[in-house]
Amino acid sequence: MADKLVCVDDFEREARSSLPRNALDYYRSGADEELTLSLNKEALKRLRIRPRMLRDVTHRSTATAALGEAVSVPFGVSPTAMQRMAHPDGELANVRAVAKMGGVFILSTLSTSSIEEVAEAAPDATRWFQLYIYKDRSVTEQLVRRAEKAGYRALVLTVDAPVFGNRRADARHKFALPSHLRLANLEGLGQEKTKMSSAKSGSGLNEYTNKLFDQSVNWKDVEWLKSFTTLPLVLKGVLTKEDALMGAELGVAAIFVSNHGARQLDGVPASIEALPEVVRAVKGRCQVFVDGGFSTGADIFKALALGADMVFFGRPALWGLSHSGQTGVERVLNILKVELDRTMALAGCNSVKDIVKEMVVHDTYYSK
Ligand code: FNR
Repeated sequence: MADKLVCVDDFEREARSSLPRNALDYYRSGADEELTLSLNKEALKRLRIRPRMLRDVTHRSTATAALGEAVSVPFGVSPTAMQRMAHPDGELANVRAVAKMGGVFILSTLSTSSIEEVAEAAPDATRWFQLYIYKDRSVTEQLVRRAEKAGYRALVLTVDAPVFGNRRADARHKFALPSHLRLANLEGLGQEKTKMSSAKSGSGLNEYTNKLFDQSVNWKDVEWLKSFTTLPLVLKGVLTKEDALMGAELGVAAIFVSNHGARQLDGVPASIEALPEVVRAVKGRCQVFVDGGFSTGADIFKALALGADMVFFGRPALWGLSHSGQTGVERVLNILKVELDRTMALAGCNSVKDIVKEMVVHDTYYSK
């Protein structure tokens, strides 16, 4: 019953029982032993909120700014590949829901709807484009040009995937993009780029990326990108203060703390654990974003208190999408907005700026 779905976990449970195995394995999995996959959530639950009382919370707002642009909520949807496996409308449904909410939508390079189709579906949405760098650099250059032309307002370079993580279920069941779908952004560039067929052994995704993505990507490529586009650049997948500092020094617009939803290097910290050192390192020189394991408004509140400017999530939107397309994503986003607003009220905050670092501590604080 649709009205029984009152939290993001309810949508996840529904998706687990309704999605075909190929899609569910792909969406759900983390890398290897999935240590970081559990940690992303556990680390958030180990933080405690220190609420303030008697603060008149009649007039509250969740509005903030992302890369200088006004948004209604301090959250958005991370880039996730191949969304039409969840619902026939895929990325189009997702972006429309985000546009309605007034958040940020990041489109994956490996999407099943094209840069232009997504722009047309939600012309006024705050849309950013996520980049993987192909060995054939002209492919990446063309993607950047198309994103610029279609009104995307930032490029999100994923830096944690020089090779792809080993997601065991995908390897076991030889993940493939269903044959009626295509990697829409690569259309016209040959079958080897638009199809992701079953590999001879293992995951079709890993075969695709090993063949086509450039493993040599390094800091000079950040400059390479900056040399031919004026779009703000976000580095997604940073987990250390050292890399955050290098990015800030190169003048990126934001550092995006992420472990790729625990799908790349297993054993890395939860994103929420890595966030504070990154915030300290960049010292306000650029914005800081975070994703990984966020599924409640209280989770979002905690990251904002620890210094994130925006919080993103991938899977929760996919669970909504697989439930009922645009409506499902809208419901998931609304749940998160209402939960965040309620958390703010109960913690004594009227605005995102009121959510300060003294309001969140690690649970060890109380056993001292
Ligand atoms: C991803 N992620 C991802 N990241 C990216 O930069 N490009 C991509 O194409 C994808 N594709 C992708 C597919 C799926 C199914 C998942 C679950 C994730 C990582 C994504 O952007 C984000 O970092 C995580 O999803 C955040 O974790 P949660 O919110 O899913 O826990």
